Amino acid sequence: MTQYKTIKVDRSVGPVGAVIGGVDLSEPLGDEVIDEIHTAWLEHHVVFFRDQILSAEAQAEFASRFGELDQYPFMTPVDGSDYVIPIIKEPDAEMNFGGDWHTDTSYKEHPPKATLLYALEVPPVGGDTLFADATSAYESLSPAFKETLESNTGVFSPKLVHGSGGGYKTEEAKKNLGSSYGGNAEFAESEVEHPLIRTHAETGRKSIYCSKPHTVCIKGWSRDESMPIFRYLTKHMTQDEYVTRFRWEKGSLAMWDNRCVFHNALNDYQGYRRHMHRVIVKGERPH
Ligand code: SIN
Repeated sequence: MTQYKTIKVDRSVGPVGAVIGGVDLSEPLGDEVIDEIHTAWLEHHVVFFRDQILSAEAQAEFASRFGELDQYPFMTPVDGSDYVIPIIKEPDAEMNFGGDWHTDTSYKEHPPKATLLYALEVPPVGGDTLFADATSAYESLSPAFKETLESNTGVFSPKLVHGSGGGYKTEEAKKNLGSSYGGNAEFAESEVEHPLIRTHAETGRKSIYCSKPHTVCIKGWSRDESMPIFRYLTKHMTQDEYVTRFRWEKGSLAMWDNRCVFHNALNDYQGYRRHMHRVIVKGERPH
């Protein structure tokens, strides 16, 4: 286990992830602190901070210490920012954003390596986010199944969620996701090929990468043939032994590694408002 000099790392949050203490993210941080946060992030896949007071600008500034920021294709950023998007569920909305197991925008040629989500307003009950360790879940698969997965490729696309026939395109969904949501109709129908199992560019460890909402099919297989594999992998990865449930408080920030952890925003707080700010950091093409 790594020893840290400038931060406190508490692993008691669950099977994946760690809470980092002893740091104020609104202050200019030295390279040693950033290096230690980066090390903890690689080790634990998702790190959490509590009691932070962050403007959109400060959140983007902190995120940019880990790489170049990226724009999310389907949401207009908040005023004054090119990168920070609002994720808001109003009390009368029924569906939420990110309410299924996925890694962020895995349908892009270069999906983001990191997502940083900050809580401005949280419901008194519910609204937790679940995180699943896709590396440990991969490692426990049988050798023959691993080989089958690794010898195949996935066809990824935003179309299942954001395309003309996707889950977020009905009038109801648009109403629920707010006026910042929309756009990029052509990109919404695009496809890209990525491995079903990806190798982490920094740690070299392998993780499950395909998902029900973003992977249309295994290349050369029909969707009906592919779906049982995606369903099985999701079920396997989301067993209790791989999943941490993060309870948000106002001022919490989560920073997850989309290359090795899946997440799922729970939608169990009807009647209450939840307001988050999200920023993503560019990643490499999965291999
Ligand atoms: C997301 O999928 O990026 C949103 C997660 C959340 O709101 O908890």
